[in-house]
Amino acid sequence: MHHERIELDFTVNGEPVSVTVPPVRTAAEVLREELGLTGTKIGCGEGECGACTILLDGEAVTSCLLPAARLRGREVTTIEGLAGPDGALHPVQQAFVDCGAVQCGFCTPGMVMRTVAFLRENPDPTDREIARSIEGNLCRCTGYVKIPEATRAAARALAAEPAGRPAP
Ligand code: FES
Ligand code: FES
Repeated sequence: MHHERIELDFTVNGEPVSVTVPPVRTAAEVLREELGLTGTKIGCGEGECGACTILLDGEAVTSCLLPAARLRGREVTTIEGLAGPDGALHPVQQAFVDCGAVQCGFCTPGMVMRTVAFLRENPDPTDREIARSIEGNLCRCTGYVKIPEATRAAARALAAEPAGRPAP
């Protein structure tokens, strides 16, 4: 029983991967420990802080309570998958840097992933929509002023991009 393992095939940042893990593993653990993608942070481990937010088939989800089995056959995007092929930061990452929305950085990957998904659904958000979008993501450092500023800047940058930028 204790040695039971499940095999999971899924896609991470555009690459097919296959892992064999105990069924009790969470998605966050598999990403970090099996796949070495430590950009996804584990803060509370209880679904409360948003540090572990990833995109699952394009939707922002917290990964710390997500059973790894739920990754089977899905497309996962982590913070490592956002940079362009030339290593350029994603416009949302760049906006976080430019606006000083990164301090200790612990919340940043989750905030950025949440914001990428949010702006894809809401390319021209109101301040209230922006505030609501990060309600589930805790930041101990920034006072929640610079992050909304970064979200607005990212929305402007994305709107100014030539059409056809590949997802995400
Ligand atoms: Fe997942 Fe806090 S670590 S929500
Ligand atoms: Fe430190 Fe957000 S920058 S928790």
